[in-house]
Amino acid sequence: MDLRQYVVEQQRLVNEELDRVAPPESQSPETIHKAMRYSLFAGGKRLRPMLCMEACHAVGRRTEGVARAACALELIHTYSLIHDDLPALDNDDLRRGRPTNHKVFGEALAILAGDSLLTLAFEVLARLPQADGETRAALVAELAAASGTVEGMIAGQVRDIEGEGAQPTAERLEAIHRAKTGALLTASVRMGGIYGGATEEELAALTSYGRHIGLAFQIVDDVLDVEQPSETLGKTAGKDAAQRKITFPAVYGVEESKRMAEQELSKAHAALALFGERGARLHALADLMVRRTA
Ligand code: IPE
Ligand code: IPE
Ligand code: MG
Ligand code: MG
Ligand code: MG
Repeated sequence: MDLRQYVVEQQRLVNEELDRVAPPESQSPETIHKAMRYSLFAGGKRLRPMLCMEACHAVGRRTEGVARAACALELIHTYSLIHDDLPALDNDDLRRGRPTNHKVFGEALAILAGDSLLTLAFEVLARLPQADGETRAALVAELAAASGTVEGMIAGQVRDIEGEGAQPTAERLEAIHRAKTGALLTASVRMGGIYGGATEEELAALTSYGRHIGLAFQIVDDVLDVEQPSETLGKTAGKDAAQRKITFPAVYGVEESKRMAEQELSKAHAALALFGERGARLHALADLMVRRTA
């Protein structure tokens, strides 16, 4: 199967699984379920679940039912996007090519839709039908920590908004990016590894891969914000400069940022040596994430 076909197939798998776990729009109170589904099915790339499933397959000891666990990552990610777009944070009108959640449902429902996706993620993990209790608990702990305030996603979001207008230094930049984006991407591959019964050595390799693609991914996000139009991105272009965010282009310039993303990509590839052929798709996903245009 070529990569394009594989990606479409994996996205379909994730979408089906998300459809199973998200309550239907007809469930009372209907508005919240409409708001949750509006953002969930707006056409995200599904990179985090794909990384999770692929890391699990690279380890390969236990893979059945991993798509359900992978969904938890997309639930957290979508919640983080809804909240990231709120007027109190980035104040964005466009996301995944559509008006943002709060523009359609109002701020109160958007906050609650984010909350409910967050809550649902942990219910999904706690009820995983094909994992034992110990695995479920390990996955819950991993996802909670990666989303949290100690070097997790929220830590990064706090640094990101507190950094607006501050002096853009290399130290601040790395601290923001590793946490706001890197933590969840690293957790994506680690959770796949945990689900698949990874050894310590395999988990360490996945962690290193995750950290490098995590950083590369956000460098590229920053570069695309400068270089691509809103129509391609499906979100408002040029926002970072307008809001005086601490980004890679702001600290290093666009060309150097691209070079740094490639450097992180090489390190991500190197981290997979242990997996040999079984790591082929993780190599391909890394390239896809760094050389994307949206
Ligand atoms: C966007 O993530 C937000 C960041 C963490 C940079 P993605 O680029 O993965 O967004 P979707 O899921 O495809 O919309
Ligand atoms: C958001 O970073 C990261 C999250 C935790 C959601 P950005 O603010 O750069 O994401 P975009 O560019 O709005 O997608
Ligand atoms: Mg933001
Ligand atoms: Mg934003
Ligand atoms: Mg961005």
